[in-house]
Amino acid sequence: CGIIGIIGREQVAPLLVDALKRLEYRGYDSAGVATLNKGVLDRRRAEGKLVNLDNLLKDQPLAGTIGIGHTRWATHGAPTVRNAHPHTTPRLAVIHNGIIENFAELRRMLEKDGYVFETETDTETVAHLVTRALDRGLSPVEAVRQTLPELRGAFAIAIMFKGEEDLLIAARNGPPLAVGYGDGEMYLGSDAIALAPFTDSLSYLEDGDWAVLTRKGVVIYDETGATVQRRIEKSAGTAFLVSKGNRRHFMEKEIHEQPEVISHTLANYLDFSKGTIRANVTPIDFAKVDRIAASACGTAYYAGLIGKYWFEQIARLPVDIDVASEFRYREMPLSKDSLALFVSQSGETADTLASLRYCKQQGLTISSVVNVRESTMARESDAIFPTLAGPEVGVASTKAFTCQLSVLASLAVVAGKMRGTISDEDERRLVHELSEIPRYATQALKLEQQMEAISRDLSQVKHALYLGRGTSFPLALEGALKLKEISYIHAEGYAAGELKHGPIALIDESMPVIVIAPYDRWFEKTVSNMQEVAARGGKIILITDERGAAASTLKTMHTVILPDMPEIITPIVYAVPIQMLAYYTAVFMGTDVDQPRNLAKSVTVE
Ligand code: G6P
Repeated sequence: CGIIGIIGREQVAPLLVDALKRLEYRGYDSAGVATLNKGVLDRRRAEGKLVNLDNLLKDQPLAGTIGIGHTRWATHGAPTVRNAHPHTTPRLAVIHNGIIENFAELRRMLEKDGYVFETETDTETVAHLVTRALDRGLSPVEAVRQTLPELRGAFAIAIMFKGEEDLLIAARNGPPLAVGYGDGEMYLGSDAIALAPFTDSLSYLEDGDWAVLTRKGVVIYDETGATVQRRIEKSAGTAFLVSKGNRRHFMEKEIHEQPEVISHTLANYLDFSKGTIRANVTPIDFAKVDRIAASACGTAYYAGLIGKYWFEQIARLPVDIDVASEFRYREMPLSKDSLALFVSQSGETADTLASLRYCKQQGLTISSVVNVRESTMARESDAIFPTLAGPEVGVASTKAFTCQLSVLASLAVVAGKMRGTISDEDERRLVHELSEIPRYATQALKLEQQMEAISRDLSQVKHALYLGRGTSFPLALEGALKLKEISYIHAEGYAAGELKHGPIALIDESMPVIVIAPYDRWFEKTVSNMQEVAARGGKIILITDERGAAASTLKTMHTVILPDMPEIITPIVYAVPIQMLAYYTAVFMGTDVDQPRNLAKSVTVE
């Protein structure tokens, strides 16, 4: 979901819609705006794409210099116009991200008091709750002050009040919310990207904070009700304007950006000219760390899984890794000498953030690999390891993934050095090998036409299987995730050795099997697994290197040949054809590649 609020000088409706367009990348299924004009509070809402809201506003414009806007990703209630935000009562309009957990209980109480609900949403409860406080004679500020303690759950809220043309009130407990400072204008937004054209001066609200905005400025209160100052930061958000350039989709553009952003990211950790890791890349002494407790969601989780192989092999450092939605409740025994490590593009994913806070409570040192430096995870970590991928807009993660891998591989070398598990010579070799990723990734991009041709075949199937061993195994999981996310073809990733324990039952002529097999120490074994597939008529798409192609005599439907390259970098470089395969398959299927159905870029609910 995305939130935007403006108290300005110009007509705000078009500005609100523009800002919502910049928040589109977070995923949404309906959208709406509300404004106040000469005492009249009015709203427009539309299902589906923002162009529908845009068209509606062309037919039925909204006037006013104060307004709020929202893109909704349905949690409670279907993505219909009726459930779209803003939600209104005769006295106010509310937009909300997150979930009010005790909404059913609050709703019953409000209905008893005679408040009539129009929707099934949890948000409408907030609207009526604040309205009830106003009805009891409280001022808007007092009404919000009294209402907030009654709300349980994770939320970011913005409220606009009828008759108050110089007032917006916002609150944050969970999903991010920033206050933007203008000249005689003030803004609210879910992130710096939304506010980029308006201002680059932002304050991020902290959990429990609520803020009262007028054209003159903002007063921020913390959860105890005391006024607090939150640092005004200069956002890097204005430095870029997110555009597709001449590419068809953001995902395509982001796949192609990889050589460049990986090289920026690596340069942050490695000194290529000296062939060493950079001094002071981390305040963490890995020699004193006994385990890494890692967690993440989605693609970031698969990056972490690959990282586990590297930390364990290079630094002899054991890594426990779990999806964050399990980690946060699993009550795993954690020792104070463990390092907690979180991987997240957005730095806001609710489950990952909850895991981070859990580890903090347990007294662990917190580190995170994040792409958004101003994110909540970044701010709550003891050590941050930034990925320099730049803003990623496509919902299906590509460049953030390979940058996460680049950071994790570099950190494994850092840890190995500190722990004495690798020599100076190993360090030089590994740094050199990592420095070659951008070059190999550029070569991998040249496979585009072939990947497009293979995708034409893949777009005909209903199911697909991805197999790999070693670091190619988590990459197989990621490959399957990419394909299902954007093409809606059912796909599963498996460790090649597990094939015989179940998925082999699915193999027949209609089942393509994508085998990720660089010529590494597992190659022979993976080839045996391919034999098992071939013997049952399965169609193999083999992604390998020159040595692998020469060594395999198997008949495949397609063989994709990458250059031979050092083992450590294979999952990063092989990610490129894997991404292109999903991308072109989705293009052939005609799906909404950048904003696949039901998915959101940044999931700030549990
Ligand atoms: C969502 C996105 C995925 C992403 C995951 C974790 O599901 O659609 O692309 O991998 O969240 O997001 P994070 O921002 O924590 O990396």
